[in-house]
Amino acid sequence: SAAEKGGYDYFMLKEIAEQPKAVADTLLGRIDGSGSLTLDEVRIPPGVLREIDKVVIVACGTAFHAGMIAKYAIEHWTRLPCEVELASEFRYRDPILDAQTLVIAISQSGETMDTLMALRHAREQGSRVLAICNTNGSTIPRESDAVLYTHAGPEVAVASTKAFLTQLVACYLVALYLGQVRGTKWGDEIRAVIRDLSSIAGAVDRVLGTMEPVRELARTLASKKTVLFLGRHVGYPVALEGALKLKELAYMHAEGFAAGELKHGPIALIEEDLPVVVVVPSPRGRSVLHDKIVSNIQEIRARGARTIVIAEEGDEAVVPYADHLIRIPATPTLLQPLVATVPLQVFACELATARGNEVDQPRNLAKSVTVE
Ligand code: AGP
Repeated sequence: SAAEKGGYDYFMLKEIAEQPKAVADTLLGRIDGSGSLTLDEVRIPPGVLREIDKVVIVACGTAFHAGMIAKYAIEHWTRLPCEVELASEFRYRDPILDAQTLVIAISQSGETMDTLMALRHAREQGSRVLAICNTNGSTIPRESDAVLYTHAGPEVAVASTKAFLTQLVACYLVALYLGQVRGTKWGDEIRAVIRDLSSIAGAVDRVLGTMEPVRELARTLASKKTVLFLGRHVGYPVALEGALKLKELAYMHAEGFAAGELKHGPIALIEEDLPVVVVVPSPRGRSVLHDKIVSNIQEIRARGARTIVIAEEGDEAVVPYADHLIRIPATPTLLQPLVATVPLQVFACELATARGNEVDQPRNLAKSVTVE
């Protein structure tokens, strides 16, 4: 009913709007007064976490994209090797797991059969399993050694939005907590990022306030056949997520690429007026990547692409090459997906509406996939 949708036309719009609160709620009570993380609810003793020598993340779909981003964070802040794998592929290739492996299973519903089978396989090999889940008491957390709940609240729309942002928050918390417990050379950065996390819900809220031009742009692209998405570093999984949203909602051909791969093949796809969304890393921090992506934007534009550029406020280098510029607030490098994903959700939702598609219930899809 309209009341359930809180005045929005679709659950998806309501859930997109709820993201600042979902993010804040997922952080609530997990950062103490001194700026350290308190994750006692993760019932794996610090002693055990110090013995871990590898992290393996399993998940499907949007949750898998959260896992890809988590890999960057975990390897950077903990120096532990981290693999991320589609849950549906995982157990069939006889993965190497033992008691020193921490397996993280990410699932909004907690009922995805592929993810459940992957975690069962990991536990049979003696690994510890930590679930990141949005649904209290669901099967995946029940069968895991520990759980860190995301507090997105119920997600009704089939296309995941607020659950994804809270999965990212939970992944950052786990990565920072592992860094904190194990002690790494990044101690100062870890403390600084924990501080930055406290203001990140406000940044998400600011992005939401600037989405009207994105909706207008989406409407002008309603008759396009293909949209490409490019990103690098944590922007790469964001590009994949933008493409997945567009497939699910707009039923358009969409693909995400790592921008550095462009020259190894995908650049052949670029043709006159092809919309290409580019997620640009911050010019601060890992600025080499920023400069490389600006070159990519130049290259594809020279070949006729219509460039839709998502870049940090104050990043002037992209301006000459952006046919459309979408600004996002500056964040620490690894946290950028929390703000960069939001315009892509709005973009896909508006394209679906413009094409007359059912936004909350896309064809052929179910909210949770309980068969393998
Ligand atoms: C996201 O928009 C999808 N509908 C889908 O990819 C989903 O993320 C995937 O099926 C995993 O679901 P889960 O998080 O409930 O395990």
